[in-house]
Amino acid sequence: MGKIVIAIDGFSGCGKSSTAKEVAKKLGYTYIDSGAMYRAATLHFLNNHTVLSNPKEVSKALDSLKISFHFNPEQQTQETYLNELNVEDEIRTMRVSEYVSEVSKLKEVRLALVAQQQKLGKSKGVVMDGRDIGTVVFPEAELKVFMTADLSIRAARRQKEILEKGDLIDLEKIKHNLVERDRIDSTRTESPLLKAEDAIEIDTSLLEFDDQVEQIVSLAQEKL
Ligand code: C5P
Repeated sequence: MGKIVIAIDGFSGCGKSSTAKEVAKKLGYTYIDSGAMYRAATLHFLNNHTVLSNPKEVSKALDSLKISFHFNPEQQTQETYLNELNVEDEIRTMRVSEYVSEVSKLKEVRLALVAQQQKLGKSKGVVMDGRDIGTVVFPEAELKVFMTADLSIRAARRQKEILEKGDLIDLEKIKHNLVERDRIDSTRTESPLLKAEDAIEIDTSLLEFDDQVEQIVSLAQEKL
């Protein structure tokens, strides 16, 4: 059976990653979390005190940036590595969340990460989630989904996710971060967050997790 590329884009905290991961599992596809790559780049810039307005510093930081994914058999999940170090937890902290959209605005950063994403998806059989996957990374993707959900539902889901990792963050702080990221991501000049014309919109506010996964899996099966 032929394999396709599934692009899942949408606002922050809509459950794109967990949905994409499960869809990939059901189809036997590779899941690629493009947001994790922008988060890892952000952590690298923070660690190096890179001044974003200084192109030389940005280019130097990019030269020493190596992002990879490795499967953790115990957790049965894929984890993000920055220069051979496991940063899966660190990239999900508020410190990174509050800075990631500023880093993601930079053209040089996007060029480098999009090139790596396109390589990862070259042989198809991938589900990739992000903000510009259906518009820029894989404009030819066979299936494009654009996910949305109410802000308060998104914030509550994100709070629960962070709590499961042991941190309690104020709901208002999370809401503010989601709104800010959506604003910066949607209004930037380079590859703004946009629904591709041929994307199918799914509002997950009232959907059970399994139903949203099932919807996307059925859409994918129609394309196979
Ligand atoms: O998907 P996640 O919420 O982890 O993404 C974190 C941030 O990375 C987004 O708010 C956005 O600034 C950036 N991003 C992006 N393009 C992508 C994926 C993520 O600009 N394809």
